[in-house]
Amino acid sequence: MQTRCALVGMPGSGKSTVGRQLARRLGLPFVDLDQRLEQRLGTSIRDYFDQHGEAAFRDHEAALLAELAAQPGGMVLSTGGGAVLREDNRATLRRGFPHVMYLRASPEEIFKRIKHDRTRPLLQVDDPLARLRDLYRARDPLYREAAHYVIETGRPTVHTLVNMIMMQL
Ligand code: S3P
Repeated sequence: MQTRCALVGMPGSGKSTVGRQLARRLGLPFVDLDQRLEQRLGTSIRDYFDQHGEAAFRDHEAALLAELAAQPGGMVLSTGGGAVLREDNRATLRRGFPHVMYLRASPEEIFKRIKHDRTRPLLQVDDPLARLRDLYRARDPLYREAAHYVIETGRPTVHTLVNMIMMQL
């Protein structure tokens, strides 16, 4: 059976960067859930949030995730940071992907990486670090529930992280 691997974790934990390189090394298609959603919605996630709200976005996210989980063949999937919020999505991930990896990073590490990024709607607040800490507190258990493995992203380079993941496959 071909490898099916999904990456979960906080915004800024490196899911897309690591996922793209992992897919290249494995010779598998790389699917970025957020990018696919933007294609489907015909607008950026940020604008979609602004116009339709988070709940409508989550419905589209759940529908696309279920489609991808049911699609046969090898792939590396990078999910959006909130894809684990719904219990159904966590079950869909585990069912559809035998290798779900949680890329764990502390809120402080993430803040350093993405403090200048204006494309992430959930971080457009006065105190993004406090927001990241709240998100982390609420979501860390959900990422752990969805994932089969936890990959600590603190120090290693992207190349090393890809090697760490490949050792688990
Ligand atoms: C979200 C994270 C984003 C994107 C949307 C919501 C979240 O993806 O799906 O803005 O709830 O954490 P990234 O994790 O790729 O930033």
